[in-house]
Amino acid sequence: MLASISKHFFHVLARSRTLQGLASRVGMRKPTSFARRFIAGETIDDAIAAARALHERGLLVTLDHLGENVTNLAEADAATRDYLGIVEAIVQSGIDRNISLKLSGLGLDVDKARTVDNLRQVLERAEPAGFFVRLDMESSHYTDRTLEIMETLWQEGHRGLGVVLQAALRRSERDLQRLNSLGVRVRLVKGAYTEARSIAYQKKADVDAAFERMMKVLIAEGHYPAIATHDDVMIEKTRRWAAQHGVTPDRFEFQMLYGVRRDLQSRLAANNYRVRVYVPYGRQWFPYFMRRLGERPANLWFVIRSLLREERS
Ligand code: FDA
Repeated sequence: MLASISKHFFHVLARSRTLQGLASRVGMRKPTSFARRFIAGETIDDAIAAARALHERGLLVTLDHLGENVTNLAEADAATRDYLGIVEAIVQSGIDRNISLKLSGLGLDVDKARTVDNLRQVLERAEPAGFFVRLDMESSHYTDRTLEIMETLWQEGHRGLGVVLQAALRRSERDLQRLNSLGVRVRLVKGAYTEARSIAYQKKADVDAAFERMMKVLIAEGHYPAIATHDDVMIEKTRRWAAQHGVTPDRFEFQMLYGVRRDLQSRLAANNYRVRVYVPYGRQWFPYFMRRLGERPANLWFVIRSLLREERS
């Protein structure tokens, strides 16, 4: 209950333009500014530098250029061009060829057919270069359309494409059956959005139970699944389930967010598990940052402490 109130509170704040303006001025100013804990920086060069540092620690990466909900076709096309440039920059840099993107950033609020075209353009550039492109899952408002677009492109033969399912949504176990039968790579997450009781589990225990059920199906029957969580208990259950079913650590990966549980990321990698870190960057970092605060309000102290430090320096 408390967790869902706090999630909702931070989602409301995420829409505040005043707060966004204020945070944008101070949150990224210096390498020690508060937003740097969870966001690699504002440019692709910042993200590539962060990725190199993660590679040195034995970790894999996926890059996410932050930007959600474009409101017209010109912005959607511009975002698509940005992605083509990002693919190029990643190839030049030599880091992992793996990106995550949100379809609302490619025009899903404006025009579904154009979003398909935009994603196809990105795939046509990225796939021949060996990229994997993951469609992040946004709020339930987008679930049907995200899965439909994913399937349209899959049926066209695009295999460097995968998607995310949220354990919090009651429908996800059904969606998982469908995606497994197609052979799609799934990233399993708990779900970062506030959703209605009618469509989503509200209690953490119910979300965790759904996550565990889906993890078991993915490990046993999935296609190189990604178990994306920082939850020690879920990670331990995944390790045990995989070992019991003879699924070796090269047949799935753990994924975690940049700046969250760095200790755990390194520990798993040291034990020969594949760990991919989700590296977000870009000027529009505020909504992403607020979702991270909503997941763990204790992070607010971290923000306040770093603001006080900046004030003094
Ligand atoms: P849970 O919330 O139970 O946290 C377990 C423990 O992890 C906490 O006790 C704490 O120690 C640590 N922790 C968790 N969040 C933290 C934070 N913000 N700061 C510090 N510590 C924290 N969601 C979505 O709806 N669509 C998506 O596409 C994605 N994509 C995605 C990719 C990757 C790689 C990850 C790891 C996560 C996502 N998510 C997501 C977010 C996901 O839905 C979920 O909100 C967060 O991962 C937090 O849930 P946990 O599974 O970590 O468990």
